[in-house]
Amino acid sequence: MEKKLTFLGIETSCDETASSVVQENDDGTAKVLSNVISSQIKEHEKFGGVVPEIAARSHLENIELVIQEALDKSKKKISDIDGIAATAGPGLVVCLNIGYNIGKSIAAFENKTFLPINHLEGHALSPSIENKISYPYLLLLVSGGHSQFLIIKDLDNYKRIGTTIDDAVGEAFDKTAKILNLGYPGGPCVEKFSKLGDNNKYTLPLPIINRSGCNLSLAGLKTDVLRKSKNLMTEQDRYDLAASFQEAINKILSKKSEIAMKEFLSESSNNSINYFVVAGGVASNETIRKSLKNICLKMNFKPIFPSKEFCGDNAAMIAWAGIQRFKKKLFNTKNEAVKPRWPLDLKAPFLKGSGLKL
Ligand code: KG4
Ligand code: ZN
Repeated sequence: MEKKLTFLGIETSCDETASSVVQENDDGTAKVLSNVISSQIKEHEKFGGVVPEIAARSHLENIELVIQEALDKSKKKISDIDGIAATAGPGLVVCLNIGYNIGKSIAAFENKTFLPINHLEGHALSPSIENKISYPYLLLLVSGGHSQFLIIKDLDNYKRIGTTIDDAVGEAFDKTAKILNLGYPGGPCVEKFSKLGDNNKYTLPLPIINRSGCNLSLAGLKTDVLRKSKNLMTEQDRYDLAASFQEAINKILSKKSEIAMKEFLSESSNNSINYFVVAGGVASNETIRKSLKNICLKMNFKPIFPSKEFCGDNAAMIAWAGIQRFKKKLFNTKNEAVKPRWPLDLKAPFLKGSGLKL
C-alpha cells in the first residue's frame, strides 16, 4: 500500500494563529487529524478591527504552542510529516512572516520539504477536504479581504471572472457592525442581530446590480447604512437596519452568482455536475447559504459549502493545498518572500479604485 502523504500546515496571514495536520485519503478527500485555531478576537475587540502589530506579537507568542498542539492532537511526530506548508500571502506582512519563517525553519532543521502557499488557494481548494469534487468548478470566495468569482479549472489554473471594485463582502459586514455598534467580529454579530430585525424596513442601494457582469461594488451600500444610522431612534431600528443590510448583500450575491453561473456554463458546458462552491468567512452566514442554495436549484448547480471550521481562516486548508501541490510537484519555489498581494489569477486586471470602466 502506498504511503499516505501527511502535511503540517501553518496559517498566520491575519488574526488567527493556526496549525493543522492533514493526511490524504484514497478517494481524493482529506483526513484532518488536527485543526488548531487560536483566535485573537479579544485583543482586537476594543479597536473594532485587526491591528497589525498587535496581531504579529500575538502570533509570535502563540505559534510554537499552536504547532505543538496540532502535532499532539494528530498523534504524529514531526518525523512522521512529509512536508510543511505555510501561508506566504496575501495578508499582513508582519503576520505572514511569523508563520512562514517558523515553517521554513522547522522544515530546514528536520530536512522536510517546505511549501509556501497562497491563502486564497487554500480557500479555493478547501471544498475537496470533505467532498469528492472534480475540476472545473465555480467558486465564490467571500472573506474579509477578498470577494471574487473564480473558475477553478485545475490545480494552479484559476480564472477570475468577477471581483469587488471597492469593499470585500466581509469588510462591508464588519463596517456595518461597527456603524451600528453590534459588536466584534462584525459578520457573526450582524447575522445574530438581523434575526431580531425586519429585513424590509429600509430600502438600501444595490450598486452595479444590473451591469458589469459579476463584479461587485459595496461601498455605496455601506455609505447608505452610515447615512441611515444617523436617524435611528430605537434599538429595534438598529436591528432592522442590520437585517436590511444583510438582505441587500443577499440580493447582490444571489444576482451576481446567477450571472457567474451563466458565464461558467458558457466556458465549460460539458461537465456531468456543475459545482458551485462558496468559501471564506462569509460562507458561514446561514441566510446567505440559504439564498445561494436556491440559486443553485434554479440554475442546476450542486452547492458546496465547506463546514464552518474550514470556511474561516484555518491551517487545514493550507496543509491540504500543500499536499496537492507536492503531489503535482508544484513547489512555488520562485516565491522566496511573503507577499501582501498575491492574486490567484495573475492575468486578471486590478479593478479597485478607478480600474473598472463601467
Ligand atoms: O476567511 P476569513 O476568516 O478571513 C479572511 O481571509 O478575511 O473571513 C473573515 C470575514 C470577516 O469579515 C467576518 O466578519 C466575515 O468573514 N464573517 C461573516 C460571518 N462569519 C464571518 N460575515 C457574515 N456572516 C457571518 N456569519
Ligand atoms: Zn481567509
